[in-house]
Amino acid sequence: MGVAIALLLAIVLGVLLKVVFFPGRGCREPPCLRGWIPWLGAAFQFGRAPLEFIEKAKLKYGPVFTIYLLGKRYTFVTEEEGFQAFCTSKDLDFEQAVQQSVQHAVSIPEDTFYKNRSRLYSMMKGRLSTSNVHQLSGSLCREFEKYIADLGPEGTKELTDLVRHIMYPAAVNILFGEDIFLTDRDNIKEFEYHFQNFDNGFEYATQLPKCFMRNWTKSQKWLLKSFEKVELHADKNHPSVGSFKTMYQYVLDTLHGRQFGAHYGVLLLWASQANAIPVAFWTLAFIVSHASVYENITKELETVYGKSDKKDIRVSEDDLKKLQYIKWCVLEAVRLRAPGAIVKKVINPIVVQNFVIPAGDLLTMSPYWVHRNPKYFPEPCKFKPDRWKEANLEKNSFLESFVAFGGGAHQCPGRWFAIMEIHILVLLFLLKYECQLLDPLPKESPLHLVGTQQPLGPCRVQYKLRG
Ligand code: HEM
Repeated sequence: MGVAIALLLAIVLGVLLKVVFFPGRGCREPPCLRGWIPWLGAAFQFGRAPLEFIEKAKLKYGPVFTIYLLGKRYTFVTEEEGFQAFCTSKDLDFEQAVQQSVQHAVSIPEDTFYKNRSRLYSMMKGRLSTSNVHQLSGSLCREFEKYIADLGPEGTKELTDLVRHIMYPAAVNILFGEDIFLTDRDNIKEFEYHFQNFDNGFEYATQLPKCFMRNWTKSQKWLLKSFEKVELHADKNHPSVGSFKTMYQYVLDTLHGRQFGAHYGVLLLWASQANAIPVAFWTLAFIVSHASVYENITKELETVYGKSDKKDIRVSEDDLKKLQYIKWCVLEAVRLRAPGAIVKKVINPIVVQNFVIPAGDLLTMSPYWVHRNPKYFPEPCKFKPDRWKEANLEKNSFLESFVAFGGGAHQCPGRWFAIMEIHILVLLFLLKYECQLLDPLPKESPLHLVGTQQPLGPCRVQYKLRG
């Protein structure tokens, strides 16, 4: 009798707890793919090709599903109701989702991260707003032209190397200050080696213990050491009132107690380069491999700059407005090569499409797959710059369902800078050179989840000065 009463009480208590703590009666948790190894979960199967794994899981388990990986539960949402929740729900937290990754990547301690994140975000959002980024267009042009000039009258190169050669030093000089860090060719080569190593290992390094990532750790240390010098230089050369401060100087000014300046430097460097470089590559690769798009761009450039010798072009805000088709190409490349996943931590249980997603899960959205859904983008896998006609870019709004820069209050603060720098790089390069690809357009690697996909295979470009 005593046992029966205890059992009954336990059941009543269980039901009460469920009603109080789990909203949406009758809901259940989403299907969970756990794999068969404790803690690792589905890591092996997932790690082989994460992007493909996500799509297969959606086809098999439906629009909301959980993947258990390295001790964490990632709950993917793949339809509007989930996107809505991802972008607007107050029961989700961005900082808690990314804090550990930031700590692993650049050794910023937890309390420092929480003290600084929202201040830094607001500062960057303001400094890199649409009205402010245009102040940087003149110096960006000068920087790009300097490195484009190194390409000579003609040549053949891997397109990724070509883009890196121009973008790394130009963007670094603009964001961190001129000629402090990337001062000569050897030094740029060393930087490229360490930055690529750091970027390639980033996804693993943010999840795995350091002992598995020795080579990566060497590059992390090299970057942190280099940034100690950049920080000193930024401190010494604080510009007087009236001249421009660099983005990095604003970051240092915003930090609580100015601690961990070098670490935040490496973080800003990674955030500013890791996605922008592959997107610049894809924009050029898509344009040059689509004859009609390439032709439209050549015409557009001729309309704005004529056919004569184009030296010392200073791209104005007005020019960029007129060169709208190139901007559509940039945005279309971002759409097709959008980050594989973005995450927020569930702090109170939420209901999405009748599933209860428990607190502690990482709610995950895949911009890459959202952009491949024909419901949101007709002929989703085609490179169609014209679809951007529908976007109200004058009012700085993207196409509906375009989430490459995240959604809601945490959208990428560098998005307008990224679009502008790629826009300028592409137009300056195509204005100066005629080019063709010597390899078919490569496929995207299915391995990149945190950011934009890298090309899977070679892509050489042959270029020569326009006649
Ligand atoms: C095409 C290039 C880029 C893409 C696709 C991209 C995409 C993203 C995404 C998806 C996020 C996370 C948003 C979220 O989780 O909701 C993010 C965050 C961020 N991005 Fe970008 N980004 C790009 C370029 C840049 C550039 C050029 C900068 C700096 C100049 C930058 C600075 C940042 C920073 C600082 C954050 C973290 C913001 C925070 O603390 O909330 N990004 N970016």
